[in-house]
Amino acid sequence: MSYLDIIEQHIAAFPEMPSLSQSLLGYLDDPDVDFIVIQDLVQYDPGLTANVLRLANSVYFGGAGTVGSLQQALVRLGTKRILELVLSLTVSPRLVPNLPGYGLQARELLRHSTWTGLAARELARLLSIPHEDTVFTVGLLHDLGVIVLDPFVQEARIDFNESFERGHGSFEAFEKEILGISHAEAGARILENWHLSPEIVAGARWHHEPDQATAFGEIINLVHLADMLSISQGVGTGIYGLAHEVFSESVRAVGLRKKHLEYTASKTLDRMRELDAIFS
Ligand SMILES: [Fe+2]
Repeated sequence: MSYLDIIEQHIAAFPEMPSLSQSLLGYLDDPDVDFIVIQDLVQYDPGLTANVLRLANSVYFGGAGTVGSLQQALVRLGTKRILELVLSLTVSPRLVPNLPGYGLQARELLRHSTWTGLAARELARLLSIPHEDTVFTVGLLHDLGVIVLDPFVQEARIDFNESFERGHGSFEAFEKEILGISHAEAGARILENWHLSPEIVAGARWHHEPDQATAFGEIINLVHLADMLSISQGVGTGIYGLAHEVFSESVRAVGLRKKHLEYTASKTLDRMRELDAIFS
């Protein structure tokens, strides 16, 4: 059996999206979602409730006195922030092992994914491009394929190292050449199996090759740029992180300027510091 045959079996066997994440995702683009709805979903998960309380009482929000109940925490943090937090906590840690093939700890992939989602949302807001919630979700999920491919990248280490020594092409190209599939394509297939929307699937599929996409260009460009920004900040680079290229056409298409990048990087860093109370 080829690598691709086995990888396809692993994609088919990949765990279902956690049902709590699925429910929360449905509320992400609802501006009128009620605190009570979120409270009802979160309160039956003790670990998650504890994390929400830790976040509400972290140094970033703790100035206003200690919060002791989930309801108070939700009021302090706001619905949107809770949804972001809870989604990043429900999707990744239960699914992500350490990733020696890519040289990433589980926590690093979680940080990279959350960083990319937050930065993509910030870029969308700054550049007045709609789809803020969709790009956040895609950012969170764009690298799921890394989890499936990791053992094969590890097994084919010699081939990958040889390809790098030859020095031609991107990591994406090496994955296709050696394994028969890229992590972006593997991730997109998982998201298809999870029945997520076509724009989320496309966002994952083309996040390293935005020039290949035939639809949802704005979403894909934003996620691509947020991903590259995250890597340039050293968040989740792993062994091969720097072997990806920034598409200048994406920069041009969204009207990105240096000042946008600087602002987004500093804003995202602040948001990540808030989350450190629970990520560390
Ligand atoms: Fe990627």
